[in-house]
Amino acid sequence: MARISFRVPRLIGRSGMAAALAVLVAASPVAAASPGATGAGDPYFPLQGNGGYDVGHYGLNLRWDPATDRLDGVATIQAFATQSLSAFDLDLRRDLVVTSVSVNGERAAFTQPALLQQELVVRPRHSLAKGDTFTAVVTYGGIPPVITDPDGSIEGWVPTADGAFVVGEPQGSPAWYPCNDTPTDKAAFDVTITVPAGYTAVSNGEMRARPATRYGWTTFSWRQRQPMATYLATASVSHFVVTTGRTPGGIPWTTAVEPALTADSAPALAKLPAMVDYFTSVFGPYPFGSAGAIVMDAPAIGYALETQTKPIFPGAPDELTLAHELAHQWFGDSVTLRRWSDIWVNEGFAEWSSWMWSEASGGDSAQAFFDYYNSFDNTNDWLWRPVPADPGDAANIFNSAVYERGAMTLQALRVKVGDETFFRILRGWATQLRYGNASVEDFTSFAARVSHQDLTHFFDVWLRQPDKPTSW
Ligand code: TRP
Ligand code: ZN
Repeated sequence: MARISFRVPRLIGRSGMAAALAVLVAASPVAAASPGATGAGDPYFPLQGNGGYDVGHYGLNLRWDPATDRLDGVATIQAFATQSLSAFDLDLRRDLVVTSVSVNGERAAFTQPALLQQELVVRPRHSLAKGDTFTAVVTYGGIPPVITDPDGSIEGWVPTADGAFVVGEPQGSPAWYPCNDTPTDKAAFDVTITVPAGYTAVSNGEMRARPATRYGWTTFSWRQRQPMATYLATASVSHFVVTTGRTPGGIPWTTAVEPALTADSAPALAKLPAMVDYFTSVFGPYPFGSAGAIVMDAPAIGYALETQTKPIFPGAPDELTLAHELAHQWFGDSVTLRRWSDIWVNEGFAEWSSWMWSEASGGDSAQAFFDYYNSFDNTNDWLWRPVPADPGDAANIFNSAVYERGAMTLQALRVKVGDETFFRILRGWATQLRYGNASVEDFTSFAARVSHQDLTHFFDVWLRQPDKPTSW
């Protein structure tokens, strides 16, 4: 079948492109309809996310062949128009070639402009009215590009010795599925992955159907019912050993570990149920339907990620790293940063929580971690700068100042307001902002409100002043 497509002339801007599209598609029925924005307004990642709609559900139907690294997908995206739309963008890297798009069952025009590296521009046959719900189906395929971040780390659908390590923070998701890749547009997900028999594919949430093998390929179906930010999705593949259970508190868990790493992973993973229950006791109910972990040999990645319900590790996890990623389920996954400059509301909290697990399980106290870092003087840029409240550049979002100075901030707050008030703040934050987004400023005002204290100076010296805090 002929594909309805068009080329956008090089070097015309966004409004020029809209004009070009308007010429190509005559008289829209909704006079006021205009194209949705190419980005969601994040200063660190201007093309990330899009304007004009809000996704409610992603249905991803994927097939991946480890022998060739080719990924083929059909993404069914249910969304709600927040403005009248003559066209809208999805985020998808151009290495994944789109072969068809439909909107509400009708073939839609689309393009993947060379100048906008992750924009798939869709022009439905009929404009969408503000308030309309609509379904877009995107068929695509190719070799997923491995994305290099501003800090030099890699992400996306990353092939490993025996599978694929799939991670999306902060910008890897458009390397494997079309999405509205902004942390502020959370959605439910159904992810179905077909891989050669013998492999296991693991995604977020719970298994929706038994794996089914036909003609040498096995299909795995997963469902994430609670809202999830796009960067937290995974669909990792390997020859996993899968283990399931329930925490004493009743939360189901699933771990998927590469066989060569089961022995080294066992000591930390044995504590996973107790960690989930401990954090539940401190932060309030576990936000999702299940917990777990994915462990792979992926030395080229080198960092863990809090993929929702099943954080992923590039080697056997140590106990503190596992605690960090599990705490992210409350701080990061359920309560998610609003902009990437708000990274402290994810990382400072997860890091402090890992100190707290140490304290609660008979190891060093959170105050001992604080004292250790506080022994470094102000000349140590790696620890004190750039400031946690805004690390200033996408290359700095995973710096130690965000993690360790950021965790010190919470421990200092704990001492300042006392345990009773402090844990009321954290629990209230996790509960009241559940499934939402929050900024650094949202937290500082929340803490001031709950504690009935003026914390302006405290947060100024801890989060915003470049020098090592000396009095607060
Ligand atoms: N969010 C991860 C964690 O701390 C870390 C992370 C994600 C990361 N992407 C990264 C660290 C890229 C360095 C580089 O749990
Ligand atoms: Zn983290």
